[in-house]
Amino acid sequence: GSGLVGGAVGGAAGYAGRGLLDDDEAVPDWETVADSRVVGAATEPFHGPHQAGITTPPQAHAAFLGFDLAAGATRAEVQGVLRAWSQDAARLTSGRGGLADLEPELARDPARLTVTIGLGPGLFDAVRMPEKRPSWLRQLPAFPQIDQLEDRWSGGDLLLQICADDPLVVSHAARILASGVRGVAEQKWAQRGFRKAVGTDPTGRTQRNLFGQIDGTVNPGPDDVDFDRVLFSDGRSADGQTQRWMRGGSSLVLRRIRMTMDTWEEIDRTSRELSMGRRIESGAPLTGVHEHDPADFEAVDEVGLPVIPPESHMARARQRDRGEAMLRRPYTYDDPPEPGRISNSGLIFTAYQADPVRTYIPVQRRLAEQDALNTWTVPIGSAVFALPPGAPEGGYVGQGLFE
Ligand code: HEM
Repeated sequence: GSGLVGGAVGGAAGYAGRGLLDDDEAVPDWETVADSRVVGAATEPFHGPHQAGITTPPQAHAAFLGFDLAAGATRAEVQGVLRAWSQDAARLTSGRGGLADLEPELARDPARLTVTIGLGPGLFDAVRMPEKRPSWLRQLPAFPQIDQLEDRWSGGDLLLQICADDPLVVSHAARILASGVRGVAEQKWAQRGFRKAVGTDPTGRTQRNLFGQIDGTVNPGPDDVDFDRVLFSDGRSADGQTQRWMRGGSSLVLRRIRMTMDTWEEIDRTSRELSMGRRIESGAPLTGVHEHDPADFEAVDEVGLPVIPPESHMARARQRDRGEAMLRRPYTYDDPPEPGRISNSGLIFTAYQADPVRTYIPVQRRLAEQDALNTWTVPIGSAVFALPPGAPEGGYVGQGLFE
C-alpha cells in the first residue's frame, strides 16, 4: 500500500510520509534491490495548494524546458496546454503513462517525479491579459558587470521544471509533456542538471557543487516559522499590486551560471576559501568549525583584517533582512565541452521566493557590484517565471488566471 518505509531503508529515510506505489511483482530479498525499488516507486503528490518541485526535497535529476508561444497563439490554446500538462503530470507523477503515451512502461516507477509549470512575462500579452501579470514578473535588469547572457538560455513564455531521482523518468516525462504543445508553443531551450545520486550520501547532507563547495547551507527550511511566507505569495506584490490568482503561487529566478573550472584550479585552497568565506572541507564559516555554525562577520585576525572578507560570496549574499530570504535549489550541469576544452560546467541556479523584486534583485545587485566569486562564475542565461498555485484534483495549474 502507500505510506512507507520509515528509516528501514537507509538512503530513502527522507521519503517517510510520502507515497510508495504498489507493485505486485515479487521482489528478491536483497537489500540493494529493496533500495532501488523504493527509489523508483516513491511518489510526490501533484495536486495540492502549492505546486510540487519547490519545497520538495531536491531530486537527483532535473530538466528545465523553456517555451515561447507561437505568434497568434490564442488564450484557449494556452489554457489547453496548461490543462494537458496538468493532466499528464498528474498521471506521470503517480506512475501512469501520459494520456497519449506510447510507452507507459517508462512511467511505471516515477522516482519522486515532480512537474512544475511556470508562466513567463510575455505570456500575459500573448493571451491579452496584461493586467493579470504580477508586477514583479519581468526579466531581471541587466547586470553588465557580470552578465554574458545568451539568448539560447534565456527568457521563455512557459516553463516546465521536471525533477526525479531517475534520469530516464525525467527524459520520458519531458518527451511526453513537450510534445503536447505542438503548434501552440515551441521549445526554446532545455537545460539538464543533476545533484548527488540517491543513496551516495546520508539523507540530509548538503550537496557539493563542482567547485567542491558545500552549497545550500544557509537556506530556509520547513522548520522555519516563515517558510511559507518566504516562498508563497499572498497575491500581493511588494509594490502593493494584488493578483488574487497568484495566492499560494511562487516565483522562480533561473540563472545558468558557467563555472570556469580551469582558472578556479589555478588558485590555492586558502584563496578559494577566502573567496567564499567558508572552508571547502567542512563548509564551516572561516570563523567557525562546523557547517552550520553562525558566521561572525565582525571577527578580525591578529593584524586586524576581517576573518571573513567583506567581498566574499557569503558576506555579499547574506540576507540584510528576512525579506531577502530565498530558497536555492540548484542543479549542477556538466555538458559536452567545446572542441579543445575539457569542461563545460556550472550551475543551473534556481531561487524561489514570493516576490523576486523584493528578494532576489537586491541580493543579485550586491553580488554583481562585488563578489570575489565573480572571477570564476559567469551568468550565461537568465529567466523569470511565475509559478501559479497548485491545482486541485480535476483542476489545472494556472486555471485561476482565466477565471
Ligand atoms: C551561499 C555557491 C551564485 C545567493 C553560497 C554558498 C556557496 C555558494 C558555496 C555557501 C554555502 C551556502 O550557504 O549555501 C554559489 C555558486 C554560485 C552562486 C558556485 C554560482 C555559480 C549565487 C547567486 C545568488 C546566490 C546568483 C543570488 C543572487 C546565495 C545566498 C547564500 C549563498 C543568499 C547564503 C548566504 C548566507 O546567508 O550565508 N553560494 N553561489 N548565490 N549564495 Fe551562492
